[in-house]
Amino acid sequence: MRNAFKILGLILLSVTFVLGTGELVTAKKKKKDIKITAEENALLDKWEAKKNVKARKKTVKKLRKVFKKKVGYVGSAKCDGSCHDPYYEAWKESPHGGTFDLLKPGERKEAKERVKLDPEKDYTTTPLCLRCHTTGYKQRGGFKPAGSKNKKGKDTATRIDPDEPSLEQVGCEMCHSVAGGSHLRAVMTASKGKFDKGDAEKYGQRWDYANVCTRCHTHPKAPFQPDVHEKYKFDFEERKKKVHPIDKFWNDDNMDQKLETIKKRVKEVSQSEKTPLVIENFKEKDGKLKFKKGTKPYNSKAKTFNYKK
Ligand code: HEC
Ligand code: HEC
Ligand code: HEC
Repeated sequence: MRNAFKILGLILLSVTFVLGTGELVTAKKKKKDIKITAEENALLDKWEAKKNVKARKKTVKKLRKVFKKKVGYVGSAKCDGSCHDPYYEAWKESPHGGTFDLLKPGERKEAKERVKLDPEKDYTTTPLCLRCHTTGYKQRGGFKPAGSKNKKGKDTATRIDPDEPSLEQVGCEMCHSVAGGSHLRAVMTASKGKFDKGDAEKYGQRWDYANVCTRCHTHPKAPFQPDVHEKYKFDFEERKKKVHPIDKFWNDDNMDQKLETIKKRVKEVSQSEKTPLVIENFKEKDGKLKFKKGTKPYNSKAKTFNYKK
């Protein structure tokens, strides 16, 4: 008899346990379930992304998670590995893939002497130089030089891998984005490249190619000016040819990354092509890089872009 009670008790206990946790699980599920807004649906329709509701919810969840965070720099290495491999490989060997290295002692001695820079000095932590020789310096997610620490004293310097250059050179985001590519990257992935220029621009891509070069080339703060030497004159059409020498990097493994949608996009004209974005001005003050007010192309508080008047 006593045993029968014990067994009954156990059965009751397990029933409450199963029912109890069961409810918990559904409650959790309900909390996680999301409603896709009409705007999100329209965007995903345009990108021909994920027709199936469950898959679409997953995509929306991912996008929301990324967009909730402020836009920032992610580094060039993130563009390699399945999406823009030939562009990355070509960039690594291109002049912009080695800009950080020019700041090291002994590099380009003659050129440095010409503009009265000390050829034996290490400029790899000099704020002014880092602005134009690395990616996103002094901006969210951007390059942090050796010796950088957070408030708790923890080392936050950017890790440098010589085989996989990323934030420490003039990377993709310095020419293709306004304040970093974190949001844009999510848009490219979700749309599998089927975004239009306007969509991408809303998420921080820029298309004002001729203008963007003047963030550095011929910028008043650049030591190497056209009046120092002929070779620093800047002819956009000529220079553009040398930015992406991708031809020899196409192979059987990455052929599927050819951008068919480019042909469609060339016909579109985005806002930054009509009115280029403002170019940052800055100076070094008390060992820190200071941006001049009103010269930032993106206002992260108001989430607005600043175009040239
Ligand atoms: C406003 C942007 C800017 C700043 C600031 C800047 N640079 Fe540069 N730097 C450039 C650009 C653009 C070039 C490429 C010029 C060209 O080839 O036309 C360049 C080229 C160089 C070169 C190669 C020159 C050659 O002829 O081989 C060296 C070395 C260099 N920079 C060092 C420095 C150092 C050191 C600092 C800091 C004291 C610095 N730069 C600050 C934009 C900048
Ligand atoms: C120095 C500036 C600069 C850097 C750095 C740069 N790009 Fe570009 N990129 C350009 C310019 C300019 C064009 C347009 C070329 C043209 O119209 O012929 C372009 C075009 C492209 C295109 C074609 C886009 C389209 O829709 O037309 C892709 C993709 C691209 N770049 C990817 C990358 C990746 C990935 C990196 C980094 C590994 C990178 N770029 C680094 C300047 C740059
Ligand atoms: C964030 C700064 C920055 C931006 C933006 C930038 N560049 Fe540069 N660029 C540099 C630096 C630094 C060098 C020097 C590299 C070297 O001498 O090895 C350079 C070198 C070059 C060179 C090689 C010059 C040579 O003949 O050796 C070309 C070509 C060039 N840039 C084209 C462009 C074009 C086109 C754009 C705009 C689409 C652009 N760059 C935007 C910083 C920049």
